[in-house]
Amino acid sequence: MPISDCDKMVDIATTLPGLKLKNPTILAAGILGETGASLENVAKAGAGAVVTKSIGIEPREGHGNPTFVETEHGIINAMGLPNPGIDNYKDEVESIIGTNIPVIGSIFGADAQEFEILAVEMEKFGVSALELNLSCPHAKGYGAILGHDKEKVLEITKVVKGAVKVPVYVKLSPNVSNIAEIACAVEDAEGDGIVAINTISAMAIDIDMALPILSNAIGGLSGPGIKPIGLRCIYEIKAETELPVIGVGGILSGNDAIEYIMAGASAVQIGSGVYYKGIGIFSKVCQQIQEFMDAHSYKTIKEMVGIAQKG
Ligand SMILES: Cc1cc2nc3c(=O)[nH]c(=O)nc-3n(C[C@H](O)[C@H](O)[C@H](O)COP(=O)(O)O)c2cc1C
Repeated sequence: MPISDCDKMVDIATTLPGLKLKNPTILAAGILGETGASLENVAKAGAGAVVTKSIGIEPREGHGNPTFVETEHGIINAMGLPNPGIDNYKDEVESIIGTNIPVIGSIFGADAQEFEILAVEMEKFGVSALELNLSCPHAKGYGAILGHDKEKVLEITKVVKGAVKVPVYVKLSPNVSNIAEIACAVEDAEGDGIVAINTISAMAIDIDMALPILSNAIGGLSGPGIKPIGLRCIYEIKAETELPVIGVGGILSGNDAIEYIMAGASAVQIGSGVYYKGIGIFSKVCQQIQEFMDAHSYKTIKEMVGIAQKG
């Protein structure tokens, strides 16, 4: 169905601190985010917002090949955060600012000072919000090592909040024993919201070679197999904090998105779904959400947010 027809149906706009989205679907970090042109294509395909690739201080090549393997229930990747570095990414971000949807700048650093520098630069580029990647499971010295430590999460969130005016979302790792405890650290630091989940630490073995398939051995699992874990994480976070949450992990259909919304997400991100279904997934998921809402007489997304918590 063309997006214009979709727009005539029930309104699926949603709001989050600093973000007004025409629909609740957002492109997840690291997928099609290399260039302004690829982000613009996702915008044109109907996403409500886009997240950039995670950007660090210096250019980084990431891990050697193979960095990606498809398994029965998802994809395992160990890209190792390849990116052009903040200075070289300026033109890409600036080329899509001012198009019709919000752009969320994803950043990663080794410590609070690096996050502060990156946050200030991204804000200057004109992004609507920041997403702090504290959860990459396969880049040594970054991500998980920080995001598993609630004191570090508190410190980094506080420092970034003190340095910028745009809302600050913190992306959390499912590879912890208590994700709600980490979310509470974000709340204590006055972060504006949570994004959950990043990929789940995982691996695959080539039995003929008797070796791990990925050059880094360990990667992160995404796609359909992680949806139940993502839902559980959102549910636990919403039970312990008042923070708005963006749900991500294994969303391939409108029903998947609605599950996340009912668990407590105000919006959802789609990553691997683009690999499985193509760029048309954004308008398709929107259409399916609208059909579900029509069939069940829901008038707004807000009505459904966290409804499974209360039940
Ligand atoms: C190839 C690939 C690259 C990714 N790169 C990033 C990244 O740069 N930063 C980040 O925060 N998450 C990254 N992710 C994680 C996704 O944003 C998302 O959290 C995760 O894949 C779960 O969602 P999905 O099941 O819809 O893919 C990446 C995922 C994949 C598959």
